[in-house]
Amino acid sequence: MCGIVGYNGNRNAAEILLEGLSKLEYRGYDSAGLAVRNGTSDVEVVKAKGRLRVLAEKTNDGKALKGNCGIGHTRWATHGEPSEKNAHPHISDDRNVVGVHNGIIENYQELKEKLLRHQYTFYSNTDTEVAIKLIDYYMKKYQEGPIDSIARAMTRIKGSYALAVMFKEYPEEIYVARKDSPMVIGTKGEETFLASDVPAILKYTRNVYYIGNQQIARLGKGSAEFYDIDREPVELESTEVTWDAEAAEKGGFEHFMIKEIHEQPKAVRDTIASVVKEDSIDLSEAGLSDELLAGVHSVVIVACGSAYHVGLAGQYVMESLAGIPVRVELASEFRYRDPLLDPKDLVIVISQSGETADSLAALRLAKERGIMTLGIVNVVGSSIAREADRTFYTLAGPEIAVATTKAYSAQLIAVYVLAIQLAKVRGKIDAETYRSLIDELQTLPKKMDRVLEDKERIQWFAAKYSNAKDMFFIGRGIDYAISMEGSLKMKEISYVHSEAYAAGELKHGTISLVEDGTLVVGVCTQSRLYEKTLSNMAEVKSRGAYLMGLTSYGNYAIEDTADFTVYIPRTSEYFATSLAIIPLQLLGYYLSVARGLNVDKPRNLAKSVTVE
Ligand code: M6R
Repeated sequence: MCGIVGYNGNRNAAEILLEGLSKLEYRGYDSAGLAVRNGTSDVEVVKAKGRLRVLAEKTNDGKALKGNCGIGHTRWATHGEPSEKNAHPHISDDRNVVGVHNGIIENYQELKEKLLRHQYTFYSNTDTEVAIKLIDYYMKKYQEGPIDSIARAMTRIKGSYALAVMFKEYPEEIYVARKDSPMVIGTKGEETFLASDVPAILKYTRNVYYIGNQQIARLGKGSAEFYDIDREPVELESTEVTWDAEAAEKGGFEHFMIKEIHEQPKAVRDTIASVVKEDSIDLSEAGLSDELLAGVHSVVIVACGSAYHVGLAGQYVMESLAGIPVRVELASEFRYRDPLLDPKDLVIVISQSGETADSLAALRLAKERGIMTLGIVNVVGSSIAREADRTFYTLAGPEIAVATTKAYSAQLIAVYVLAIQLAKVRGKIDAETYRSLIDELQTLPKKMDRVLEDKERIQWFAAKYSNAKDMFFIGRGIDYAISMEGSLKMKEISYVHSEAYAAGELKHGTISLVEDGTLVVGVCTQSRLYEKTLSNMAEVKSRGAYLMGLTSYGNYAIEDTADFTVYIPRTSEYFATSLAIIPLQLLGYYLSVARGLNVDKPRNLAKSVTVE
């Protein structure tokens, strides 16, 4: 949530900052601002409510702001409504310290009261203004430099933050501090860049540093020095970003989401190829040997949003295939209760961004209890990837659209692969079944391509029902997990009220909501449950629902009940989610387009939820 960029070099900073912010708008987009310094002159701060283009217009695309050193911010409001006053950067009363922030400062009220007692005044409702003024306070109180003042503030601040700060007396430097919110720093020649996420700086450099938790950095022109919270210097190794800048561009598609939907076969193929070696699964890069997996007695999957839905699908596959007990928990719930964990459990945290605050907290809780943790993560170098005992990287590449698609699909592969390997080491499947499951896994990318070929029918259907007000997605078993993800896609980008229900549960209350024209999607990929779900579909149809069926080729009897049917290629029923989700992603996407909504940046949402 919130995007930060910074530039220190010899070019006009504001133009580079705006360019970088445009790549981070998926992190927040209710207001934006820039602070730029030109040598020793006073800092110039410009802010605007609304989309980034308003700020670009206000500054003539950055050309109106002169200066070679600056910071920028695009905001997703937490404290204080979206407004110019609350937009970042925030500045201290005498313009000594100016900064931008991503995260939440939990004890900001207490800190604000302290500062009020020392004659500070406040113009905004933000926690960020408090943090900036706290740094200023310590600088003046102890007559120390930026690193010391920031470190003192960090020891007082509770919560999560990525801060980029500039100081009046240090006009050619930017200072950065981070705790539980992402920040990446890049250098090239005489220039230094910083950002909340790699795509914002990839055009300029591939040489990046992932600043550690509770570390501080001093950024000169082309230099980066790092310190820990005790103000001791620390050495950080730089990393070469290997993925292409084009991967973070729209590449001819109208939206990132539809581009990323089409990239799913590749994301899945790459993720499979990273772990299937010579016809068997090799998880050594993730640090998971067969001996280690054999010692796992049960699995606890913790995640948020779509990653949680991956966990739910994974639960069915792991329990049924590997015969291992699996619990799936929402990270925001898990972290605040006293979960029962056994030393022989494996806690798996699934996260695209690797920065989701609740998932990170859940991971830490499991680690504190001494339980082995595995992160299934897409973003290299992210907090969860670094802190988990073991990390399985999904190879989806950068995902920009707020609604996840290709990362979700790559995460599914990770859980399938774990399920197959657990089944093998636990002696639940023979060599032939093992081999055939791997073979089937490798057919998925081609089958996904085939599902995508059918997109026009879904586009037509979405246009026809673009006025839908309520929708239900129903299914049993894995189909219920698929329904949950389909329903989330619909809500988050199309703003259609939608609910996913275990088909057998409808009769226990919810069916009373079904009336003439209510749109119901019935997911039927599991042969054992096919007839059962069809009966539930018939029940809602007889109460006026309009029915879309989603099943595998060959199950044509569904047409006697459904008004409109989408078919997917046949695959192992364990892997059906990978194919069945695509029509539902397309449905959400095309409905959003038909309603004229902002597909990639839906209201009130941000790509990575780094606050709880
Ligand atoms: O980065 P993460 O995978 O941890 O994110 C988890 C959820 O915030 C995320 O899946 C969210 O639900 C998506 N917007 C769904 O499309």
